[in-house]
Amino acid sequence: MTFNNDHSDLYDSLLEGNKQFIEDSLKSDPEYFESLAKGQSPPVLWIGCADSRVPANQITNTAPGQIFVHRNIANMVIHSDMNMLSVLDYAVNVLKVKHVIVTGHYGCGGVIAAISNKQFGLIDNWLRHIKDVYRLHAKTLDAIEDEETRCDRLVELNVVENVYNLCKTSIVQNAWQTGQQLGVHGWVYSLKTGIITDMKVSAYDNANMENVFKFK
Ligand code: CO
Repeated sequence: MTFNNDHSDLYDSLLEGNKQFIEDSLKSDPEYFESLAKGQSPPVLWIGCADSRVPANQITNTAPGQIFVHRNIANMVIHSDMNMLSVLDYAVNVLKVKHVIVTGHYGCGGVIAAISNKQFGLIDNWLRHIKDVYRLHAKTLDAIEDEETRCDRLVELNVVENVYNLCKTSIVQNAWQTGQQLGVHGWVYSLKTGIITDMKVSAYDNANMENVFKFK
């Protein structure tokens, strides 16, 4: 059995696109693949939303090899998520990235779903973490009447909390403890304008960390 024509065309076009990508890349740099194949030392780890409209490299005008990427629904940093922890550990301890950036985006479907009272199935268990962020900031959020504005604020607060979650991991704590230079940052991307807003919660050490989370 095959799909109807539209789907086959789409599928084929991906492989056609790959041929075009190779041609274009080699045109601008004949050594393009050879140099990339030698290895990677990206200075940045990106933790972003899986949303198809927020690709790390395109929106920061960077090339393959420059950003190590982890994406999930609503750019969450959950301290029991083995996938996220493995990526973070590898990025910090092997690749020695200088910056970890959590990037959320306005109009995030995960956040919109989390703010609602509807059930969506399995994903409700993942979105629960966003509801926890809501609970932490319920006073601020409940005071915002306009639904879109309230959602956008939750997107921002979710990024801030996930930056904080990152700082609390044993991986970031140990890096700071041993004097490794590592900045942790929070950004929000606008789908409507393409603009990235820095949430200005960058952390480079334990200075603003609540005592209970500090490892000594
Ligand atoms: Co999203």
